[in-house]
Amino acid sequence: MNRKNITEVFFSPNGTTQEVVQTIGRNFSAEAESCDLLRAPLQQDKRIPKDGLAIVGMPVYAGRIPGLCREWLAHLKGEETPAMAVAVYGNRDYDDALLELTDLLEENGFTVIGAGAFIAQHSIFPKVGAGRPDQADKEAMALFAEKCKENLACLAAGETIKIVVKGNPEYREPGNVPLKPSADKACTRCGVCASLCPTHSIPKDDPWRTNQKTCISCGACIHNCPAGARAFRGPMYAIAEKEFCKKNAAYRKPELFY
Ligand SMILES: Cc1cc2nc3c(=O)[nH]c(=O)nc-3n(C[C@H](O)[C@H](O)[C@H](O)COP(=O)(O)O)c2cc1C
Ligand code: SF4
Ligand code: SF4
Repeated sequence: MNRKNITEVFFSPNGTTQEVVQTIGRNFSAEAESCDLLRAPLQQDKRIPKDGLAIVGMPVYAGRIPGLCREWLAHLKGEETPAMAVAVYGNRDYDDALLELTDLLEENGFTVIGAGAFIAQHSIFPKVGAGRPDQADKEAMALFAEKCKENLACLAAGETIKIVVKGNPEYREPGNVPLKPSADKACTRCGVCASLCPTHSIPKDDPWRTNQKTCISCGACIHNCPAGARAFRGPMYAIAEKEFCKKNAAYRKPELFY
């Protein structure tokens, strides 16, 4: 069963969460509206009507959804609107993030018809999950969409849908990654990173600096720097990368709940 309108909501500093949400969305023959929380954070309530469908994707940060997204998602309101919850993680684990997102959507008036955890290249340690999402991931996204269509048909027939998602209901404590990016001599001072940073951690007049206290290590400044000047660097990073790659080399598969 298809819907007339889909709203694709995502926070995607490095583009993979957006890619996953939009790949899932393409399986529905419907007009899709994008709600890109990096470029247009939700500051006011946005209602999605009952006859719509929301596909909401979040990157996993330390096993949770990013703290600043919780504030923006509080403005996303459903009217018993069907929603698909999508967590995208860097091949370590998604821990409680998918459950947290599912709970949040249900608290905000959505009926979650499916939840999926998908793997992407890790944005801090790109050697982990390199090439993900791959063909098998895309097949899992198509299967996920098909199962959610079946649930939409059940909803339309008056059935109740209750999705049970993996995760600890007492969610993990939010964590902070101590690694922060910096710019090098290639920087042209264009200001793109400063205007895109979701926590305003880069001064417009001095983009070589990063506020270490407010930066959430999201990588938007690295991914979008036209000069390729920003990166995670330094001996601490090199040590952490080696350790992280060793621990998280095993191929993880998408997990679907419907
Ligand atoms: C601050 C931070 C914390 C992260 N924590 C986790 C994690 O707990 N588990 C994991 O597998 N990946 C983790 N990752 C990797 C991201 O979940 C992954 O790269 C995600 O797909 C990035 O989405 P994006 O491409 O839309 O920015 C983390 C990334 C960042 C920046
Ligand atoms: S986006 Fe890149 S080139 Fe532009 S100011 Fe930032 S670091 Fe410098
Ligand atoms: S400075 Fe930090 S918070 Fe800002 S875009 Fe870069 S990584 Fe993200």
